[in-house]
Amino acid sequence: MSRIAYVNGRYLPLTAAQVRVEDRGFQFGDGVYEVVHLHRGRFTDEDKHLDRLDRSLGELRITRPVSRAALAGIIREVVERNRLHANGLVYIQITRGAARREHVFPAARTRPTLVVTARAIPAFPRDVDAWATAIITGPDQRWDRCDIKSVNLLPNVLAKQAAREAGAFEMALVDADGMITECASSNLWIVDAEGRLRTRPLGHEILPGCTRAALAELLADERVTLSETAFSLEELRRAREVFITSATSFVRPVIAVDGDPVEDGKVGPVTRRLFAAFTRHVQGALSNAA
Ligand code: PDD
Repeated sequence: MSRIAYVNGRYLPLTAAQVRVEDRGFQFGDGVYEVVHLHRGRFTDEDKHLDRLDRSLGELRITRPVSRAALAGIIREVVERNRLHANGLVYIQITRGAARREHVFPAARTRPTLVVTARAIPAFPRDVDAWATAIITGPDQRWDRCDIKSVNLLPNVLAKQAAREAGAFEMALVDADGMITECASSNLWIVDAEGRLRTRPLGHEILPGCTRAALAELLADERVTLSETAFSLEELRRAREVFITSATSFVRPVIAVDGDPVEDGKVGPVTRRLFAAFTRHVQGALSNAA
């Protein structure tokens, strides 16, 4: 069965779906996106993703092409037409639309472009040890509004490729002060040498991850306290535990940083507990009901 995409009001086979050459997403990276996980036909943290999409649009002054309710309907229709009843990802992209190429915003009547695609992904990981991965570190070369989920991802692409070429899954990004911001496509957490769970506080330097927010809400039940304080590259190297979060990584243990094992190179107890808590959240939370 060929995959189906939604483009500006039409559902088309993916291979036939097109946007215009002068689309500002293509010309300037002038657009925003979301990636939402689908577990057994149910969205994980859908409201958080749609809230963040609204915020990204607002920050860039891109008008929303359809109402939120209509968008939620389109997403469901794309899932349905792709017969995604198991595990999948939905990708939503909105750009400032197609217009003669000029940097300044186009005329107000220019319609934003809305694209929604979906695809199947492997089943949610059952085995946290098998899910563990390795990261490298490198300079954060992005702009100073990383809180906006823009499609302008060149530094992230280069960082992720460097990680891949080093045999790692992610690159932890280090700012000019030697502090970690996040990874190329995920948020980064540590259990530091004193046993405190830490992740960088929200601000312009990181994306406010939906998985980060959902996990933070689960911590009280796990009786784990979170310290939202920036940590340095040195602290990352000395951490007892390291993990990343994202819509596609969920809670993913990191057992090596720049080729050196984290502690004994095995998944630590806090990561193990939080992976289990997030698994229950994905599988069960009534608030996620589609
Ligand atoms: N990436 N930080 C960055 C830079 C990201 O690109 C992402 C998500 C995250 C985690 O956000 P969330 O938990 O809402 O997925 C943090 C997506 C998955 C992507 O670009 O494919």
